[in-house]
Amino acid sequence: MNNTLLECIKNKKTSYTPIWFMRQAGRYLPEFREIRKQNQDFIKLCLNERLSAEISLQPIKRFNLDAVIIFSDILMIPYGLGQKIEFKKGFGPILGDLNFNIILNTKANDFIKKLSPIYEAIKRVRKDVGNRDLIGFAGAPWTLLMYMLNQKSPKNDFDINKIIKNKSLMRDLILKLEDIIFLHTKEQIKAGANIIQIFDSWAGLLPKNKLSEYCYIPTSKIVKNIKSLKVPAICFPKGIKENYIDFCSAVEPSCISIDYEVDAQWIKEKLNGTPIQGGLDPKILLGDKEEIKRNVEKYINIFKDYPYIFNLGHGVLPETKPETIEYIIQIIRNKK
Ligand code: CP3
Repeated sequence: MNNTLLECIKNKKTSYTPIWFMRQAGRYLPEFREIRKQNQDFIKLCLNERLSAEISLQPIKRFNLDAVIIFSDILMIPYGLGQKIEFKKGFGPILGDLNFNIILNTKANDFIKKLSPIYEAIKRVRKDVGNRDLIGFAGAPWTLLMYMLNQKSPKNDFDINKIIKNKSLMRDLILKLEDIIFLHTKEQIKAGANIIQIFDSWAGLLPKNKLSEYCYIPTSKIVKNIKSLKVPAICFPKGIKENYIDFCSAVEPSCISIDYEVDAQWIKEKLNGTPIQGGLDPKILLGDKEEIKRNVEKYINIFKDYPYIFNLGHGVLPETKPETIEYIIQIIRNKK
């Protein structure tokens, strides 16, 4: 299985549907939980090149997926910029206070040095997987900014006006993030990643009149830079509903990853051939087999004459049984 995602994105047709899963390396796998139990500090785990490479390969060994995604986290960028990060069990990430001076003055070389184990892990994985697609990733500027300023995942009391109250500071931070995100993806590419995915998990928090400034424009600059290295960029602007179409016109991603709220038939008709990835609601995977089959086939049928990468509409949930992933792969690979 060589470069099927790349083929799908480039040639816009493949002999079969490539498959990978967001959060394929994670808590639903007993072999991951085993390593995690012995490594309480999540950031340290992400910076352990041997274990990070091993965890990246766990789902490949089990399921023979078409792509590896490097085991890391989008919050490694704020960490590299000097912000404290901690992962509290059952709560999620907690970030320390922002020191704007440190962040804005972080030098490229220091950042790369601090995150070098991530690039080393990618080199190890590349050695192991030959030509198989290897996905590097980063958070989009808006989603990173949201975590950096809100210091935790947004809850019901999230107030966007509090986050973006200081306009000129926001502008400086976004420009810094654009540079650092590109730097981080470029280093991943140099180490062996041949596809980059940009996660904008919280794009849906932006009101329509702010999407352009905080999502489309910063992301389009990063995508343009990644494409200039002859590497495709898959974008996942989660939660922006009908604005997916404007996003694609403004950003021109190499491939668009859709969330579970997007109507598959609708977006296929609206886009002129931009390859599409994902869509299936991860909650469906917790239900019964018949319903899983019906839903998987829905996506496969809608996209049968369209460049499509099978994936979910968000990450695999920790409660998912590994056998369910196996079952989905079987459904897709047995159907030509
Ligand atoms: O996809 C993969 O298998 C590669 C690894 C990966 C992780 N995080 C590992 C992880 C990737 C691509 C991410 C991206 C990420 N991280 C996103 C974007 C995608 C998305 O889910 O929306 C975001 C928003 C984060 C931030 C983050 N990291 C949160 C909110 C949390 C805690 C809650 C949660 O969703 O798990 C993490 C921790 C995290 N990142 C874990 C893993 C395997 C769980 C760690 C644990 O508790 O054992």
